[in-house]
Amino acid sequence: MTSVVAQFPEFRDRCVLVTGGGSGIGAAIVEGFARQGAKVSFIDIAEAESRELAMRLSRDSEHPVHFFKADLRNIGAIRQTVDAVVAQSGPITVLVNNAAWDDRHEFDTVTEEYWDNNQATNLRHVFFTAQAVAPSMRAAGGGAIINMSSIAFLLNMPEFPAYSTAKAAVIGLTKSLAGKLGPDNIRVNCILPGMIVTERQMKLWLTEEGIAQTIKRQCLKKVLHGDAIVGPCLFLASDCAAAVTAQSLIVDGGIF
Ligand SMILES: NC(=O)c1ccc[n+]([C@@H]2O[C@H](COP(=O)([O-])OP(=O)(O)OC[C@H]3O[C@@H](n4cnc5c(N)ncnc54)[C@H](O)[C@@H]3O)[C@@H](O)[C@H]2O)c1
Repeated sequence: MTSVVAQFPEFRDRCVLVTGGGSGIGAAIVEGFARQGAKVSFIDIAEAESRELAMRLSRDSEHPVHFFKADLRNIGAIRQTVDAVVAQSGPITVLVNNAAWDDRHEFDTVTEEYWDNNQATNLRHVFFTAQAVAPSMRAAGGGAIINMSSIAFLLNMPEFPAYSTAKAAVIGLTKSLAGKLGPDNIRVNCILPGMIVTERQMKLWLTEEGIAQTIKRQCLKKVLHGDAIVGPCLFLASDCAAAVTAQSLIVDGGIF
């Protein structure tokens, strides 16, 4: 459950789309916007947990939270889903490109097929979802896009070269889209989370010892969860950030 309490009245009744909103950071962002009275839709590939989240949040949100099942590696499915979201909830004015998969992979055994699939999972859809949503934002007179990068690519981490490449590219893409879409009053910014402890991270990659080691390197000596990203995301999407575009915001508790 998100602990962010700030209210941004401009989100009330506005249509927000979050990719990969079914779990982890994305689920916290979906909840964060739903609590602002926004009409929130999210895309995810994982059906059971996404349905459960949409049902739980719809119970006490002003608007039902809508889950759309789609594989973001399929560009046709992205376009169809964006059309369905607009038909159901009106023009999308906030897009959070959050979905990714931080799969570990061995340098020596990465194949061409693996590489392409990794980029399709972590990078390609960021562009194509923005492309699909842009007409809606233009028609509404503007909008905000927030792309999720990662500090991972800044730390020379050896265990996921393809993922790190995609996350670095998200910053370049953010800046180029900001340049292209700025004249349409569409702002494009990027968040670089640090170690955000989620259920999936705990199940697959994190250990108590590893968490403690990272916290030693953070200025703030606390475990960060998905809600740590919600406030920065709401801020970047809000009118408070009306002059902020093409920027990257690191949210990692101050790793040194
Ligand atoms: N958790 C962290 O420590 C951390 C750190 C840095 C950056 N990030 C970034 O923040 C974002 C969210 O991270 P998270 O840890 O919550 O991730 P996660 O893996 O828990 O969640 C990602 C969501 O995207 C969905 N998804 C994955 N592939 C998909 C596809 N092909 N089609 C549709 N949905 C798909 C998953 O089902 C999942 O619900 C990601 O962009 C990640 O790279 C996370």
